[in-house]
Amino acid sequence: MRARLVAGNWKMHGSLATNRALLEALVAGVKGVECAVCVPFPYLAQAAERLRGTAIAWGAQNVSEFAQGAYTGEISAAMLADLGCRYVLVGHSERRQLYGETDAQAAAKFAAAQGAGVRPILCVGETLDERDAGRTEEVVARQLDVVLAHSNFGDAVLAYEPVWAIGTGRTATPQQAQEVHGFLRKRVGAATRILYGGSVKSQNAAAIFAMPDVDGGLIGGASLVAQDFLAICAAAQAKG
Ligand code: PGA
Repeated sequence: MRARLVAGNWKMHGSLATNRALLEALVAGVKGVECAVCVPFPYLAQAAERLRGTAIAWGAQNVSEFAQGAYTGEISAAMLADLGCRYVLVGHSERRQLYGETDAQAAAKFAAAQGAGVRPILCVGETLDERDAGRTEEVVARQLDVVLAHSNFGDAVLAYEPVWAIGTGRTATPQQAQEVHGFLRKRVGAATRILYGGSVKSQNAAAIFAMPDVDGGLIGGASLVAQDFLAICAAAQAKG
């Protein structure tokens, strides 16, 4: 049985003061489900300090593909490990679309994270044009296969995030999610957790998590509101 995981992706939001309140509420409220928050780099130490010894893991949203050196502005996987990160997002569609990250870079980042003992959460997903053109499986397979060509998946996590559902309020239906998760499942095997991400809210989480190959969620906007994130965690727990 795969343990469900609910991971928050705070993106570029927050401040010391608002994070403090959010972390307090999560520490008090998360029960019975594995939960993580992927916070902006400057707040990793704050998250580590507050979450150490609690049931909530913390992680980052990006990592350098290089081990160390003259890479101004970059953050290495070893640094994330040093800060106690259990997870790091790799290949998020905003990285791919806004910063031109390639499949090969995602694969190198994935390997760098694993090499430092930080579990990658590899994000894959198609754009609306790609879906409309019937290319969803081809796209997610390409994004995943580049990684599998270089690394064993191990205890890494896969996240299916249709680009058209991210931050748009337009969620994939549970059936649409299951279709792609089922397809991805054949490639990564029964042991790997596959999260769904893209406009997951407290109102739709339970129906999505009820799908057999959905093992939790990667939550953007709703992870910034304690009550909403806790309700989503409760929906994941309710699945059993
Ligand atoms: P969203 O973001 O929940 O705000 O749609 C999800 C993500 O980008 O990981």
